[in-house]
Amino acid sequence: MAQIVLKDVVKKFGAHVAVKGVNLQVRDSEFLIMVGPSGCGKTTTLNMISGLERPTSGEIAIGGRVVNDLEPGERGLGMVFQDLALFPHLTVYENIAFGLRVKKVAEREVDSRVRAAAEAMHISPLLAKRPAQCSGGESQRVALARTIVTNPAVFLMDEPLSSLDAKLRVDMRTELKRLHARLKATFVYVTHDQAEAMTMADRIVVMSGGVVEQVGEPLEIYRKPASQFVAGFFGTPTMNFLSGKIESANGGLVFQASNLRQRLAASLPSGLAGRNVVLGVRSEHVTVGANGGTPGKVQLIEPLGAESLVFFEFGGATPLVAKIDPERSLDTGDNLTFDFDPAGCHLFDADTGARLN
Ligand SMILES: Nc1ncnc2c1ncn2[C@@H]1O[C@H](COP(=O)(O)OP(=O)(O)O)[C@@H](O)[C@H]1O
Ligand SMILES: [Mg+2]
Repeated sequence: MAQIVLKDVVKKFGAHVAVKGVNLQVRDSEFLIMVGPSGCGKTTTLNMISGLERPTSGEIAIGGRVVNDLEPGERGLGMVFQDLALFPHLTVYENIAFGLRVKKVAEREVDSRVRAAAEAMHISPLLAKRPAQCSGGESQRVALARTIVTNPAVFLMDEPLSSLDAKLRVDMRTELKRLHARLKATFVYVTHDQAEAMTMADRIVVMSGGVVEQVGEPLEIYRKPASQFVAGFFGTPTMNFLSGKIESANGGLVFQASNLRQRLAASLPSGLAGRNVVLGVRSEHVTVGANGGTPGKVQLIEPLGAESLVFFEFGGATPLVAKIDPERSLDTGDNLTFDFDPAGCHLFDADTGARLN
């Protein structure tokens, strides 16, 4: 069983608190992705699991055993980092074999395991080459094969794809997901890229400023972000945010901003009336050309192929972005109304950013 439990884990660097009391349970065999902006404490958290950093306080257990006092090599983990750290003077074969040779595994077994790992990562033709003769994507596969070969129950990965070009990064996502399905090991993966987290994770841990903001399945986080921070971090384009107040009207609730009035879902508790809030709405929940909507002027259209983004000027602090059918004929300067699907409206406390609905 390779489940990992973090209990009240804190890491200070001098006076700076990088990780502020993280509690987390990584389930056996799950693909867990820690995501958040640069500097939020992802690498520090991962390094405390691996043993490269010691927690200032708190407890870390792997497979039911507290590992705080164990060296990295005693924790039964495999690690893949952004900096691949391949040995330049060794062949791909010897790079992959390295961990087994350290453990004095018999030569015949080394050979069959190296070949199997190379096969799994589709790099068998590269075994005689040196890292300098491999492309970025190939080197990434060598680094993964080198970890797979030691058969760890837990894989720790820190931004392993960030040095690859965009196309390769997308291909490698699919490959990593397949690899996880095949190995059935526990994966803990760190990235600042929300799309990587959404596409690969069984569950996502969103971090910000050294704390966990939300833990959940990708679609749960996308559909029900726990805070304005999480809402703004996931999804392209970024969620629209509008500041205003909730008011009661005709037995229901409405959101009232300086130049926009929006009906809210009937299911909302009436106690929210009077609250200062930020309303968040994703571009796919903006209806363009609605009767009785808010008037706006098309400022910009971005065709993306399968859909187009339309930016509306409506006198708000920032333009409002809507997703529309690319076949729809709209032009810059057109005057149109828009409104929001009440079910797609997210409400956040204006002061704390906490979700209210
Ligand atoms: N060895 C260190 N000494 C001092 N500060 C550090 C050290 N490592 C990380 N930090 C600080 O801790 C915070 C979290 O860093 P890190 O975990 O690397 O963030 P992330 O991986 O999310 O980008 C940052 O403010 C960073 O500057
Ligand atoms: Mg990092």
